[in-house]
Amino acid sequence: MQKILIDADTGIDDSIAILYALRCPDIRVVGITTGCGNTDAAQAAENTLRLVKMAGVSYPVPVAIGENKPLGGEWEGPVPHIHGKNGVGDVELPPTEQKPLAEHASDFILRQAREQGRDLTIVTLGRMTNLALALEKEPNLPSMVKNVVFMGGTFRHPGNVTPVSEANLFGDPEAADRVFQAGFDLTMVGLDVTMKSRLTSQHLDLLVKYATPGNEEIAAYIRKAMTGRYYPFNRWQNNCLDHCPVHDPSALLYVTDPSLFTTRKARARVECSGQFTRGMVVADFREYPFDAPYLTICVDVDERRAVEKLIAAFTHQETLL
Ligand code: BDR
Ligand code: CA
Repeated sequence: MQKILIDADTGIDDSIAILYALRCPDIRVVGITTGCGNTDAAQAAENTLRLVKMAGVSYPVPVAIGENKPLGGEWEGPVPHIHGKNGVGDVELPPTEQKPLAEHASDFILRQAREQGRDLTIVTLGRMTNLALALEKEPNLPSMVKNVVFMGGTFRHPGNVTPVSEANLFGDPEAADRVFQAGFDLTMVGLDVTMKSRLTSQHLDLLVKYATPGNEEIAAYIRKAMTGRYYPFNRWQNNCLDHCPVHDPSALLYVTDPSLFTTRKARARVECSGQFTRGMVVADFREYPFDAPYLTICVDVDERRAVEKLIAAFTHQETLL
């Protein structure tokens, strides 16, 4: 059983990643923290609480709200053209009685690190602001947890915000660079792999058709959120005719099955300035590289197996055979 803590800016792809983790029998989600990005931190928490309710988890999953701005400035606002006004494609998720904790996300991360100890994997699906703040409070955090896996950045693939930067790192490069330098066992699940795995409308139809008891509502939600808002945006941005990339769920897929991915290691930093390069991951392969800790970078993925594993979490085993 893997213990994970998720930090998310709960938009459409974050929600699928969260549902996957909550429905995965090998994973125990010890809590979910939120920050701004796809939507504001409070709305991200509200979406998360409703997802927890919909997932019907048999154990408590606390949710803590975090920062609503990046370390180095102000948040530029939500992206309703991608994730809808409410962050989850304007789909109305079932309401819940559960409230967010009074504790700040960064304090919750620290408390969980202390309580769960070296077993804990932290997975970030948005900007790394909350994790950077936790680090500021406890510089020993890297030695207190097992590892950190993040969706963000790009190595060889073009960026999705600038020619070289991915949205989560571009949104708070200062936070990301602090995390890169801290000494975590750190794995990047970036655009090199997330743009390769595609969720097609055929997959979504199979998901709904073969959803196992308890997953019907989840399957219907995923198809609605994807096709209503996310597909049209990806058609415009990525020429995706009838499919979309699998960003945030890929980080959870890495956690549950690293063998799906090919990785390489590099000393790397995040560019915090630069007119065209802010948010870029700079990996140093020189003979005498700069003195940064090694980062594990996912450079390739078995996309068919990855997408099948994602769908299999909600469906009968034989769905895609
Ligand atoms: C990342 O940016 C966000 O919009 C998505 O949720 C994902 O985490 C992709 O670049
Ligand atoms: Ca995200």
